[in-house]
Amino acid sequence: MKRLLEPELMEEESQVIAYSEADFEIPHNEFIQRLKTFVNNPEFCGTALDLGCGPGDISCRFAKAFPLSKIDAVDGSKPMIARARSVLPAALEARINFIHGLLPHVILPQSSYEIIFSNSVLHHLPDPQALWQTIKKYSRQGTRIVIMDLFRPGCVEDAQAMVQTYAVNEPEILQRDFYHSLLAAFSIEEINTQLAQADLNLNVEQISDRHVFITGVAP
Ligand SMILES: C[S@@+](CC[C@H](N)C(=O)[O-])C[C@H]1O[C@@H](n2cnc3c(N)ncnc32)[C@H](O)[C@@H]1O
Repeated sequence: MKRLLEPELMEEESQVIAYSEADFEIPHNEFIQRLKTFVNNPEFCGTALDLGCGPGDISCRFAKAFPLSKIDAVDGSKPMIARARSVLPAALEARINFIHGLLPHVILPQSSYEIIFSNSVLHHLPDPQALWQTIKKYSRQGTRIVIMDLFRPGCVEDAQAMVQTYAVNEPEILQRDFYHSLLAAFSIEEINTQLAQADLNLNVEQISDRHVFITGVAP
């Protein structure tokens, strides 16, 4: 099945609200648990970078998992960043800095980060190098890189079946977005080709029937 692009930024007000109110407990917890295992440093006290942070749920979970850390979190959608700021718990306000900016052009507060992570963003990008080149630009020797995304199913019927399995109780708008995201996602082979083109030596692992987990340490 050929890739079918979905809108890059999530800017519809109803879409932003539905996404920020959705229950992502299972996949987002899975992401943080795997990230913790990979980083293997609960005392991490540097600043991490969250690329395509959306309403900030993953940024907040990271902040709680690494209580000494700070996070710069960037998204290209103004409504998403506004939502992230408005739902940010007061206790995390001093540690998470939400930034409006578009990959790969955004200019970030630091020239490099010790941890760079991103969840569910790669499939939004018309040009996937926007993510890989941003990671290259903002990493330094030893930067931990952790990415999770969907991968594209083999056919439309498989994508429809996944919506039935995983999103049937979600609002219509979330079911629509999930379906479009599956069709817009890359295959694992395509991701490996992108990484080779970017000269990024990362490990690409299929971790479920729809998720791929990508990790590595910058040389
Ligand atoms: C599916 S959401 C994921 C949000 C968050 N990472 C999470 O896991 O909940 C994808 C986000 O990527 C953002 N995005 C897409 N393309 C982008 C780009 N080029 N630069 C910055 N953000 C982008 C969208 O606006 C949207 O908020």
